[in-house]
Amino acid sequence: MTDNIIIFDTTLRDGEQSPGASMTLEEKIQVAKLLDEMGVDVIEAGFPIASNGDFEAVSEIAKVVKNSTVCGLARAGNKDIDRAGEAVKHANKSRIHTFISTSPLHMKFKLQMEPETVYEKVISSVTRARNWTDDVEWSCEDGTRTEFDFMCRCVEAAINAGATTINIPDTVGYTTPDEIESLFRRVIENVPNSDKAIFSAHCHNDLGMAVANSLAAAKGGARQIECTINGLGERAGNAALEEIIMAIRTRNDVFAYTTGINTKMLTRASKLVSAVSAFPVQYNKAIVGKNAFAHESGIHQDGMLKNAETYEIMRPEDVGVGGTDLVMGKHSGRHAFKEKLSDLGYQLGENALQDAFTRFKDLADKKKHIFDEDIEALVDDEVSNASE
Ligand code: KIV
Ligand code: ZN
Repeated sequence: MTDNIIIFDTTLRDGEQSPGASMTLEEKIQVAKLLDEMGVDVIEAGFPIASNGDFEAVSEIAKVVKNSTVCGLARAGNKDIDRAGEAVKHANKSRIHTFISTSPLHMKFKLQMEPETVYEKVISSVTRARNWTDDVEWSCEDGTRTEFDFMCRCVEAAINAGATTINIPDTVGYTTPDEIESLFRRVIENVPNSDKAIFSAHCHNDLGMAVANSLAAAKGGARQIECTINGLGERAGNAALEEIIMAIRTRNDVFAYTTGINTKMLTRASKLVSAVSAFPVQYNKAIVGKNAFAHESGIHQDGMLKNAETYEIMRPEDVGVGGTDLVMGKHSGRHAFKEKLSDLGYQLGENALQDAFTRFKDLADKKKHIFDEDIEALVDDEVSNASE
């Protein structure tokens, strides 16, 4: 049987932590409803202790979300955990996600705590969170730079204290696919009670490897992936949900997992998150970029007109895009030009077609964007010249 991957979306928490990406309450509710409808398993709705606005957003989302688990983030202190517990308590399914740094660098400089104090806090924070809900996730922040034996001790303690999900974040996007696959495999093999928890990957994109690292972590045994729409997130962002989902779907021979995501909603989700966060999606972004299913070169357009699989490994409809876009430009060929004319309602004879094509190429050399109106004008000129 194929393993399921739990999709944990943190657009509304880690995504919103991108400088300049903050969203209003109404916008967050809109995003949460769409994630719920799209089949996201867990929605991390915010960090309730961060502000009254964040608390309100998490608690309102908890009330409106129907199927997804609603999760609130908390540091390892009682106040944080209780605030998160209050915020998610009305959810149909609630989760508290508590975390503490475990790398030598973070413990020494950020927390200024001895490892033993951190270890004690792992136990006390998970125990506290369990008073609110049975669904507790524990994360070792800066996990990929944490000393292996210490991480295993903390993971074991968190599970014994009642954590049901163990997240190992690549907080600073430092790891590589081989490294993280082996890390997950080794932790799962070494921690005696690891079968009592689901292991989760949370990868940042500082070196552009967040998606590859998340999928590699799954190969090493992770069964939850934390991600965001459009890869929104701190610094270079988080692993992009749409890329993970489509990699699993398109390369199921390599990533043999299932997810509950309705892929046809990916483009809608991308557009909504881009609009509410005011973060534009780059044109060549995988899956949801404007050019992800666009072709301008003559060779590619000719191939596409013969068989779409020549240059597309996914069907645009499967991610909610109307169809392939054969963009008319200076690289376009006669085949695509003829097809475009036919779409616009023109049937030209061979000579007229050749003339129009030559004029189109001249225009395309001078003009960056060729619109349907340009082509119509060019052909109308051609037709009126011919009749004079
Ligand atoms: O990147 C990170 O380490 C986090 C944790 C809070 C899970 O976002
Ligand atoms: Zn993060």
